[in-house]
Amino acid sequence: MTRRTSVTAPEHLGSTEFRQDYGVRYAYAAGSMFRGIASVELVTRMAQAGLMAFFGTGGLPLETVERSLIVLRGNLVGTGNFGMNLLCNPDRTEREEAAVALFLRYGVRHVEAAGLTEVTPSLVRFRFNGAHRDGTGRAMASRQVLAKVSRLSMARDLLSPPPPHVLESLLAAGHLTPQEADAAGELPVVSDLCAESDSGGHTDRRNPYVLLPEFQRLRDEAMARYGYTKRVRVGAAGGLGTPEAVAAAFVTGADFVVTGSVNQCTPEAGTSDAAKDLLAALDSEDTALASSPELFELGAQVQVVRRNTNFAPRANMLHQLYRRHDSLEAIDPRRARVVQDIWFRQSFDQVWQETQQHVAVSRPRDLERARKNPRHRMALVFGWWFARTARAAVEGNAAHSAEFQIHCGPAMGTFNRCVAGTSLEDWRRRHVDVVAELLMHGAAEVLGNCLAGFHEAHGGRQPFRIA
Ligand SMILES: Cc1cc2nc3c(=O)[nH]c(=O)nc-3n(C[C@H](O)[C@H](O)[C@H](O)COP(=O)(O)O)c2cc1C
Repeated sequence: MTRRTSVTAPEHLGSTEFRQDYGVRYAYAAGSMFRGIASVELVTRMAQAGLMAFFGTGGLPLETVERSLIVLRGNLVGTGNFGMNLLCNPDRTEREEAAVALFLRYGVRHVEAAGLTEVTPSLVRFRFNGAHRDGTGRAMASRQVLAKVSRLSMARDLLSPPPPHVLESLLAAGHLTPQEADAAGELPVVSDLCAESDSGGHTDRRNPYVLLPEFQRLRDEAMARYGYTKRVRVGAAGGLGTPEAVAAAFVTGADFVVTGSVNQCTPEAGTSDAAKDLLAALDSEDTALASSPELFELGAQVQVVRRNTNFAPRANMLHQLYRRHDSLEAIDPRRARVVQDIWFRQSFDQVWQETQQHVAVSRPRDLERARKNPRHRMALVFGWWFARTARAAVEGNAAHSAEFQIHCGPAMGTFNRCVAGTSLEDWRRRHVDVVAELLMHGAAEVLGNCLAGFHEAHGGRQPFRIA
C-alpha cells in the first residue's frame, strides 16, 4: 500500500534563515554553470519563481558578465534573489579581483564561490563589504557567500574569520573600511558551506554521507571556538537528481541543497538543443571522469557525458601525452599525426599561431612562460582543443559532435529515469523552476511518508529536523 500523507512541505525543508537571507521560498539553489549555461534566462526564471540561482560567469569575458548583470537587474527590479559565480583561481587573481569589483559596483549580494584552494583577498573583500556592528555591538555581514568545497582543510579555513594578513592588505588597499575589517574579524568567511560530493564538472567524487556530517562537525567546532552568534549553514551538492536523493540530503541534516546537472537539460539553460537531446537520453552510468580543461597541468578532473562523445578518452589521452613528454616535438610521430589530423584537424603549428594571439591578450604572463617552457606550450596547444570542444557543445556544432565536452554527473540520468513516461520526459517542458518544484515537493512527500511510517512505529517522535 502506498502512503500519501503530506506531513511536511517543501517550504519547511532545510534552514529558515537560508530562505530569509536569500529571499526565497525553498532552501534550494540552482548552481552556476560556466559560459552562461546557467544563463540570464535560467536565473531570471528561478528568481521570478521565488527561487535562488547563480549566473555562470566562468569562461565569459568580463564585459559579457557585466552585460548579463545589467539585464538581470532590469529583469528583476525589486528582487535581490539571484547571485553570481565567483571562480577562484590562484593563477588568475586579476580576473577574480575584477569580478568582485564589478559585483560590488552592481550591488550583487550573493555569490557562489568555487575553485577555492585558499581564502583569497577578493572573496574576503566581497563578503565583508558593508559589514558593520548592530546597535548591540554584534558583528553583522550584509552579503552571502555560498562556497562549494570537498576538502576538510578548505572547509575549516572558510568557517574561520579571515586571516589577519588578508584583512590588513585589504585595509591598506582601501578595499575595506576600518569598521568593515573590525566586524570581519568576528565573522566566518562564508555564510554557507556546501559539501560538494559526486557532481558534474570539477569533482573529487567524495561520498556525501561522509562529507556532510564532517562539515557539520567542523561547523559546530567553529561556532564554539569563535563564538559566532549566527549559525553557518552547511548544505549539499552532487548527485541530487531525484526526490529521494534530495530527501536524503535533508535527513542527513543539510540546511540547503544545490543542483547542477539537471538544470543543464532545461529550456532556459544556455547550451544547444543537441547537447540537451544528448543529456535527456542519459542513464546514470553514462558519465566519466576526464582531464580538467582549466586545471589541466595540475591533473584535476571533471565529470562529463561519455555517451555519444569521445571527449573523455581523448582528453585523458592528451593528459597522458602531457605527462609523458617534455614538448610537442617529443611525442611519438604516429600519435602526433592522429592528434593533429583526426582530433584537431589542424597542425600543432597552426594551433599555436592561433593560441598565441588569444593568450597574448588574455594571459600575457602565460605566453611568456610558454616561450621558455615547451611543456607549458604543449598545455596551451591542448587547451585550444578543450576550448573548442566546450564551444562545440554549447553551440551544437554538428561538425564536432563527436567531441562535445558536456559537464554532467549521474544526477542527470537518475532524473531522466524519474520522469520517464511523464510529460517531463521531453526536456522542452523541464523548466528550471519546474525541476526545482518536482525535486522539493517530491522530497517533502518522501519525508512525509517516512515520518508517517516512523510515527506509526514509534509513537510520534521526530526522526529528523524540520524548520
Ligand atoms: C555543465 C556544468 C557546468 C558547471 N559549471 C560550474 C561553474 O562554472 N562554477 C561552479 O561553481 N560550478 C559549476 N558546476 C557545478 C554546479 O554548479 C553544481 O555545484 C553541481 O553540478 C552539483 O552537482 P550535480 O551536477 O551532481 O547536480 C557546473 C556543473 C555543470 C553540470
